[in-house]
Amino acid sequence: MTSKPAYIVRAAVLADAAAIAHVQIESFNAALCNQRLRPFAAQDPDGFLAWHNKRNESIISGGEGSMFWLVAHLPDSQDIAAVARYERVDDACAVPLEPVTDVPFGGPEQIQFFEELDRMHRQFMRSRPHYCLHILATLPARQGQGAASALLRHVSDIADAQGRPIYLEAAPGSLPVYLKNGFTPAGAVLRIPAGTTGIQDSVVTAMIRETA
Ligand SMILES: CC(C)(COP(=O)(O)OP(=O)(O)OC[C@H]1O[C@@H](n2cnc3c(N)ncnc32)[C@H](O)[C@@H]1OP(=O)(O)O)[C@@H](O)C(=O)NCCC(=O)NCCS
Repeated sequence: MTSKPAYIVRAAVLADAAAIAHVQIESFNAALCNQRLRPFAAQDPDGFLAWHNKRNESIISGGEGSMFWLVAHLPDSQDIAAVARYERVDDACAVPLEPVTDVPFGGPEQIQFFEELDRMHRQFMRSRPHYCLHILATLPARQGQGAASALLRHVSDIADAQGRPIYLEAAPGSLPVYLKNGFTPAGAVLRIPAGTTGIQDSVVTAMIRETA
C-alpha cells in the first residue's frame, strides 16, 4: 500500500493570491463549476483571473473581515496544491437578507442561485456561531492525495477549539471528501443552474460538521 504525502497547511500571504486564483480556476473548470456559476468567464479568461486575484488580495489583506484563505503544499515544494476559503460567522441572520443584484461573469440564473444559497445558509445556521467553508479546491493533478482533507482537518481544529460547527454547501461530486471528514448532509439540496454545461440534474447539498 502506498502512503499519501503529508501536506503542509498554512494561512495565505499576499504573494499567494495569484496561485490561489490558479487553483480555483483549474479545479472549478475541471469540475464544471465555473461553467455553471460563472458562464461568461470563458469569454474573458484574463478578466476572470484578474477578478479572482483582486478579491484574493483583498481577503488576505483583511478586507472582508473574518474571511480567510488557507493553502496546502508538499513539504519539499512551495507550489500550492489546494486551497480553502472560510469565514467565522457569529450570526448568519445578523443583517436582513439582501437581494443579489450582480454575479460577476454570471446572469439572472446565477443571481437567483446565489440568493437561494444565502437563504439556505440562514435557514440552517440562523444565529448559531459557526464557521462557513466557502471554497475547497485541489488542482486536478493533485487530487486524491489528501490535500483537501488536510485543509478540512485544519479548519476543523480551529472550529473545535472554539466549539463551533462548520457549515458548507457541497458541489456535485465533492460529497465523499466531506463525508470522510465528519460532515453530514443537513437535509436540503439546491438545484444549480446548467450554465453552459447543458447538464440539468445537479445539486449542491447543505452539510454540517458538529464539534468533535
Ligand atoms: C473535492 C476536492 C476539493 C477533493 O480534493 P482532494 O484533494 O482530491 O481530496 P482528498 O484527496 O483529501 O480526498 C479525500 C477522500 O475523498 C474521496 N474523494 C475525493 N474526491 C472524490 C471524488 N471526486 N469522487 C470520489 N471520491 C472522492 C476520496 O475517497 C478520498 O478518500 P481516500 O483518502 O480514502 O482516497 C477536489 O476534487 C476538487 O477540487 N474538486 C473540484 C472543486 C470542488 O468541487 N470543490 C468543492 C466545492 S464545495
